[in-house]
Amino acid sequence: MKIAVIGGAGYIGSHTARELLDFGHQVFVYDNLSSGLRQNLFKEASFFYGDILDIPRLNDFFETVQPEGIVHLAALKAAGESMEKPEKYSVSNISGSLNILNAAVKFGTKYIVFSSSAAVYGSPKYLPMDEKHPTEPENYYGYTKLAIEQYLEWYRKLKGIKYAVLRYFNAAGYDVKGRINGLEQNPANLIPIVMEAAVGKREFVSVFGDDYDTPDGTGVRDYIHTNDLAHAHRIAFEKLQNGDSFVVNLGVNRGSSVLEVIKKTEEISGCKINYKIVGRRAGDPAIVLANPAYAKELLNWQAEHSDLESLLKTTFAAYNSSL
Ligand SMILES: NC(=O)c1ccc[n+]([C@@H]2O[C@H](COP(=O)([O-])OP(=O)(O)OC[C@H]3O[C@@H](n4cnc5c(N)ncnc54)[C@H](O)[C@@H]3O)[C@@H](O)[C@H]2O)c1
Repeated sequence: MKIAVIGGAGYIGSHTARELLDFGHQVFVYDNLSSGLRQNLFKEASFFYGDILDIPRLNDFFETVQPEGIVHLAALKAAGESMEKPEKYSVSNISGSLNILNAAVKFGTKYIVFSSSAAVYGSPKYLPMDEKHPTEPENYYGYTKLAIEQYLEWYRKLKGIKYAVLRYFNAAGYDVKGRINGLEQNPANLIPIVMEAAVGKREFVSVFGDDYDTPDGTGVRDYIHTNDLAHAHRIAFEKLQNGDSFVVNLGVNRGSSVLEVIKKTEEISGCKINYKIVGRRAGDPAIVLANPAYAKELLNWQAEHSDLESLLKTTFAAYNSSL
């Protein structure tokens, strides 16, 4: 299939492009390189430099490529920043997605696989969280993802575009075959921060609270490997070709605490990681866990590389090679 990977020079996009190429798809990357990297592009995929806010350029891309499917990953993703600058997130995430949807209608794209997030749920009302969990985002970033999910549903009803909404939990890890080494830019999540401390790019890791109701008192999150995410994108297209639109969680229903991540990284890297316990951050739940049962049932997908050891080993390898 001819697939446009929009945001394909980024962290998850590059893994997805690699997977699609490995399985014989024709891949066309569209990216403004705001956080994506040229080193994440593959020679077998055509690259178009462009912004999703630049409608003429975007239309030109669609007209040239005539993609049958799109993976839409291009977005701003800093939840904290989205609360201070909602205007920026409205334009990039919501207007940008509408530009993509309108181009898809204009040029007859049939399928769209969309990078959504567990942020659409807000704080867990029960665990593990399945797709029926109420969607009450607590940050504007999460709201933009939910709004885009709703636009997708309207465009399905009105224009017949089929969509797969993939609600990722915490993405982590790097290609298990070591083919992607362009580091995620400005990461705000735990594992890259711990890695920076491991390779000496950061003095210490701040641990936000050690008095949660969890086994060691620190927050617990559900991490999903980027190769497992990439695999899900590929099979999402296969499902869309033969079935209806769908919304699925991508996570593993296994939690790792902040201290577990730090200790395991010390073991893997052989480096001492300094950390400081600081106060809790507002809005951080104690535990977030995905229920991935529907992804298994619908797509026959299950994570293969998302154990903590693989997540941390592959991430450390990427950080180590960047030195
Ligand atoms: N990383 C996570 O844990 C996580 C979790 C849930 C959802 N997501 C979603 O997955 C997607 C990819 O995330 P990522 O972690 O790979 O981030 P990333 O920043 O590495 O990738 C985003 C890519 O989109 C490009 N881009 C951004 N704005 C653009 C624009 N206006 N026009 C064209 N290109 C643009 C960037 O240059 C980059 O290559 C995002 O939509 C994000 O919201 C990520």
